[in-house]
Amino acid sequence: MVDSIQFLLNQELISLRDINPSMTVLQYLREKQSIMGTKEGCAEGDCGACSVVLVEIVNGELSYKAINSCILFVGSLHGKQLITVEGLKYQNKLHPVQQAMVDFHGSQCGFCTPGFIMALFAMYHMQKSFTVNEIHNQLAGNLCRCTGYRPIIDAAASIQFSGDHFEDKKEETKTLLLSIVKGGLLTFRSEGTTFFIPDSLESLLELRQKYPDARLLAGGTDLGLMISKHFQVLSEIILLGNVSELKDVTETEDQLSFGAAVSYTDLLPHFENNFPSLYKMVLRLGSTQIRNSGSMGGNIMNASPIGDSSPALMALGASVTLASLNGEREVLISDLFVDYRKTTLHEEEVLLSIKIPKLKEKQTFEVFKISKRFDQDISTCCGAFCVEFDDSIVKEVKIAFGGMAATPIRAKNTEGFLTGKQWTEETVEQAEKLLQEEFTPMSDFRGSAWYRTKVSSNLLKKFYLVSTNQLEDTGVVHYE
Ligand SMILES: Cc1cc2nc3c(=O)[nH]c(=O)nc-3n(C[C@H](O)[C@H](O)[C@H](O)COP(=O)(O)OP(=O)(O)OC[C@H]3O[C@@H](n4cnc5c(N)ncnc54)[C@H](O)[C@@H]3O)c2cc1C
Ligand code: FES
Ligand code: FES
Repeated sequence: MVDSIQFLLNQELISLRDINPSMTVLQYLREKQSIMGTKEGCAEGDCGACSVVLVEIVNGELSYKAINSCILFVGSLHGKQLITVEGLKYQNKLHPVQQAMVDFHGSQCGFCTPGFIMALFAMYHMQKSFTVNEIHNQLAGNLCRCTGYRPIIDAAASIQFSGDHFEDKKEETKTLLLSIVKGGLLTFRSEGTTFFIPDSLESLLELRQKYPDARLLAGGTDLGLMISKHFQVLSEIILLGNVSELKDVTETEDQLSFGAAVSYTDLLPHFENNFPSLYKMVLRLGSTQIRNSGSMGGNIMNASPIGDSSPALMALGASVTLASLNGEREVLISDLFVDYRKTTLHEEEVLLSIKIPKLKEKQTFEVFKISKRFDQDISTCCGAFCVEFDDSIVKEVKIAFGGMAATPIRAKNTEGFLTGKQWTEETVEQAEKLLQEEFTPMSDFRGSAWYRTKVSSNLLKKFYLVSTNQLEDTGVVHYE
């Protein structure tokens, strides 16, 4: 049994033995390491004050990603490099991103500044230049209450990659990280929590069978809040990220298939090519930090009625593969949800992968997210529409919503009405009336039942207008 969690903290190799592996990285940095540059604002992944950069080897190269440390478990650091704001200054010189923030007066009270610096540092290591829209997108998960964003955006726009001490040591870092992750199951026990890191599907399924109450941990952007906000003690945790089957992405001519633990960030290029509307919607799911950690598998299995993945996946006719030691079974996402936050997943199963059929030539697909803020907000209502046409006749239609019932749900009555009809404004207006009768959504602080009902039928109209080229849905705010 491996009895320590090993990682690089900046350039120093750390071996942790006596620590609860479900402690958050933010708590670890501030309480155990007494390094205070990384700040706590919200402790729920919203403000970015706690941003750090996590480095891991992807396709043989180091990949730098900004992550919210307030909802990241210490156990997830095993085999990675954790870079904090303290690690940036080198030989008494500010890092180029720190210098840019100074040059453009990007810091005032300074509380949010370390988080911005770390988000900028991850951008710096992408080694490309960014448009203003891309900068907004990259920084949407960092809130600054006092300076206004303009000087920060200017600092970001000025950054050009010219190397740094991390780049200089990259071969050394790769060798060190590889020497930590030697293969085999890692089991780490401390302070009442056992943290498993399986590195094969078989080992994961065996653990799942043996410990049915263990929490499966993908990106932790839902699970992390159980620690940071609800102070729960999780006695057994199984980390999914080292099982290659859960991280694979495969594209064939007619389908996109990906492991349940692939992050949104890694899915985005595939969505951009195949499902542009889903791509635009996912850019509004959480923030860069959340998308760097969070997975669609986690979103589906969290089974929230307002999770953003499921309506789109249902409309696209996607399915999931559920695996256990007894074998695998495939379930349409439309058949997965049985009640509020309940799915048909058995206790010995894991969600292995997700398959989305690619769009056929005569199919049109759009997904629309309605939330109070454009970025970093949970949906009040999310509507997804996919229609296959035979000339102007609706051959097949799938309509799915989040926020309209206790589960993500298909609008089966409205679909039945539209099937075989001419795709005209008149038909769609009749369908809108039917749709208004189809669900009884709840009222909450995100929107009243009346609002949700109205907005869902308006989204059907919007889909009609977009599908008939009467309206363009760009899905993005343009800042230039
Ligand atoms: C600030 C913030 C903003 C957010 N914004 C959005 C948003 O705009 N839209 C939205 O939909 N969500 C949002 N979320 C919620 C969250 O980011 C998503 O639900 C995300 O997709 C969860 O993925 P994860 O990998 O982090 O899951 P985790 O937290 O690791 O897991 C979530 C749940 O799924 C289970 N699970 C994970 N993987 C598997 C598997 N393979 N098999 C079986 N069970 C599994 C876990 O045990 C857990 O119960 C936000 C969260 C935060 C903190
Ligand atoms: S403290 Fe706000 S995102 Fe972590
Ligand atoms: S500089 Fe004050 S909140 Fe950002």
